[in-house]
Parts: sequence; C-alpha cells; structure tokens
Amino acid sequence: MSDYLFENRVLSRKERLKKQIRLITNHPVILINLIYSFFIRLIYGLNIFQPFQLVVDWRSRFVRKGGSKVIIKGQFFVGGRYITNLSSSSANVLIYDGGTLIINGRVKIGPGVQIVVARGGKLIMNNGTYITADAKIFCSTTMEIGKNCAISWGTSIIDSDFHQLHYEGRKTEDPQIKIGDNVWIGCNSTILKGVKISSNTVIAAGSVVTKDLPSSVLAGGNPAKVLKENISWR
Ligand SMILES: CC(C)(COP(=O)(O)OP(=O)(O)OC[C@H]1O[C@@H](n2cnc3c(N)ncnc32)[C@H](O)[C@@H]1OP(=O)(O)O)[C@@H](O)C(=O)NCCC(=O)NCCS
Repeated sequence: MSDYLFENRVLSRKERLKKQIRLITNHPVILINLIYSFFIRLIYGLNIFQPFQLVVDWRSRFVRKGGSKVIIKGQFFVGGRYITNLSSSSANVLIYDGGTLIINGRVKIGPGVQIVVARGGKLIMNNGTYITADAKIFCSTTMEIGKNCAISWGTSIIDSDFHQLHYEGRKTEDPQIKIGDNVWIGCNSTILKGVKISSNTVIAAGSVVTKDLPSSVLAGGNPAKVLKENISWR
C-alpha cells in the first residue's frame, strides 16, 4: 500500500509541492487524471484553478446530477491505483438530485469504491480519511465519517435496508450513521443503518455492526460485540 495514504500531517507549501512532483514522477498516469479531472471540475462548477481539489482516475466516474451539491473544502482523490492496487475496478461517485457531498480536508477513495448519495442524502467525509478498495457507501440520510479514519476494502456502509421488514414490536430508529475520528474498519465489514461508532474504535474484519459502539474499543463479529476495551491503534 502506498505511503501517501499515511502522510496526513499538515505539510508546508514547499513540502506539498515536492510531494506532488514526486507523486507525478512516480505515477505518470496522474497527468492524464489531472486533465480528465480538469474537465470534471469545469463541468460541475468546481475550482478549475486548484488541480488537486478533485482528482478522478481516468477509469473512474464522478457524476453530479443537476440539483445536487458538491462542496470540496480541501482535496478529494477518487479511484487512483496509487491509493492502493488491491482492485482493478473503477471507482464511481454518484450524487443524485437533492443529494449533497461535503469533503472537509484531504480524503482519498481507492479503485472500485462505489459512493451513492441519494436524494435527501448528505455525506460528509473529513480530513485524513481514506477508503481502500471496493467499498460501498450508500447515503440517503445524513452520514458523517470523521477525521483520519481507515476504511478497508470490501466494507459496506449503508443507511437504508432498501426494503421494509415488519414484525411485532419492531422499533424504528434514526437511520443516520456517524463514524467518529480515527476509526479503523477492518476489511469486508458492514455498517448498518442508525449505527454510531465513537472515535478511536476498531472494527474487526468481516464484522456486521448493527448497534452503536463506544470509543476506543475493538469490536467484531456478527452482530458485532465489544471484544476489548481501552485500545489504541496506529
Ligand atoms: C436484517 C435487517 C433488514 C433487519 O432490520 P431491522 O428490522 O431494523 O432489525 P433490527 O435493527 O431491529 O435488528 C433486530 C435484531 O437483529 C440483529 N441484526 C440486524 N441485522 C443483522 C445482521 N445483518 N446480522 C446479524 N444480526 C442482525 C440486531 O442486532 C437486532 O438484535 P437484537 O434483537 O438482539 O437487538 C437489517 O439489519 C439488515 O441486515 N439490513 C441490510 C439489508 C440489505 O442488505 N440491503 C441491501 C440490498 S437489498
């Protein structure tokens, strides 16, 4: 996996420029991506003078339907194989009419990642967060992913069941998902509607999270339970 994923400290202007030159030299495909992304930014009214505001890999799609909103206060990298080479699929970001995508700071999503923001959905992703490969995010309410989160490949985060289940005594709860800062979600996990995961928590690979989790715990299993408390990770 690339070192670029792990360098999330604030860099000086000179350091940032050096890093960008190094990135382009090591991965010449970025030049094609920058040209492709220029046109995406132009079409969608983003800042054409900030080449790194939105960088979309040329094999990936970033589609913003009329009536949707995209606010990128920082940098959003979509689908680049320099983020990880654990997938050969293209990334897709689709924001439907009435949906909002907000990027605060520097956020990266790898190849094969599918993000859909449906009508009425508001997806907020914060600085230093990255999603490796083939993850799926479906947002139809308000969903926030905190700072410096590591979301591994094959993870699904969905705030809707897509169907309605009926049984006696079933409670309907707020479907919004909130993931705190510095949360690490192990590969092939699923985060279901209404879940709040507090900061510094780790989700073990292959877990299904159906209920809220406190901060600084290791949780895992199906349905996910707290396995260890007072943990830290890096
Ligand atoms: C199965 C499902 C529809 C149930 O929704 P629900 O009726 O709101 O169920 P609840 O959230 O009230 O959960 C009921 C119980 O089942 C457990 N549970 C829910 N989903 C679970 C899952 N996927 N795996 C294991 N346990 C699950 C809950 O923890 C809860 O346990 P409890 O009774 O001990 O508290 C939903 O949790 C789910 O899996 N949704 C995803 C559907 C999907 O994949 N859609 C995509 C395309 S169609």
